Amino acid sequence: MMTSAPSHTPVLQVENVTVRFGGVIAVQNVSLTINQGELVGFIGPNGAGKTTLMRVITGIVKPQEGRVLLEGRDLAKDTINERVRGGMALAQQIVQPLHELSMLDNVALACGGAKTASVINSMFYTNREQERDRARSLLERVGLGEVTNALPATLPLGYLKRLEVARAMALEPKLLLLDEPLAGLNQAEAKDLADLILTLNKGGQTILLIEHNLREVLRICPILYVQDNGVPLAFGAADMVMKNPEVRSAYLGGHA
Ligand SMILES: Nc1ncnc2c1ncn2[C@@H]1O[C@H](COP(=O)(O)OP(=O)(O)OP(=O)(O)O)[C@@H](O)[C@H]1O
Ligand SMILES: [Mg+2]
Repeated sequence: MMTSAPSHTPVLQVENVTVRFGGVIAVQNVSLTINQGELVGFIGPNGAGKTTLMRVITGIVKPQEGRVLLEGRDLAKDTINERVRGGMALAQQIVQPLHELSMLDNVALACGGAKTASVINSMFYTNREQERDRARSLLERVGLGEVTNALPATLPLGYLKRLEVARAMALEPKLLLLDEPLAGLNQAEAKDLADLILTLNKGGQTILLIEHNLREVLRICPILYVQDNGVPLAFGAADMVMKNPEVRSAYLGGHA
């Protein structure tokens, strides 16, 4: 085994995680480490177990075997809320804005949630103006500065995907988990959002990105993790991973 360079501080460690749903092995003995400041692309065909692994990391799904560590601490006993407070934020595969609230208030609520770790409590949190200021700057950061007062339902999907990212960033996460942020976007929107993800990473944000859009993943992610049918196929530098014959035949159907 090679030892990692001293500058490599692990933020996330997944160790020998296995998840079974009845007879289906959704995740089979997966181990991976994400270091401070890395942007890791997580790819694999439909049903590969990507979302399931993400849910193990956030605590939504309990693995039958293995463990997850955040900054070296075993999360086995931590609830989802405790993991969020501990520095994990997830932008989900399906966008879930609060439709009755403006874009600004959607993010302000997340800003309050970062303090109280409960959406309900944050409704009663008093210091709303400060949260709104933070929310405004977060919306500007993700390119939504022009639509702060709009209701989510009036905006295209591309905007709502950015809203999800802003809400996740409001938690000032040590680890940002993104599940298919580019899904449903056209090519130009996908490129713009991928650029934003890259910018966040260049600003120091550690990111695990699940994504089917291979073009954008290969453009922005220096490191790739590939899973197929629950089984880890390859993990490492993107160019090396894409040369792996197993990755080419399984993920790209042998056409690459
Ligand atoms: N809650 C659940 N109960 C039972 N089976 C599940 C559950 N969640 C996922 N599965 C199964 O686990 C396997 C992996 O699913 P998962 O959603 O993690 O894949 P994925 O890689 O995220 O796929 P996609 O790219 O389509 O989002 C699939 O066979 C799926 O049907
Ligand atoms: Mg999924």
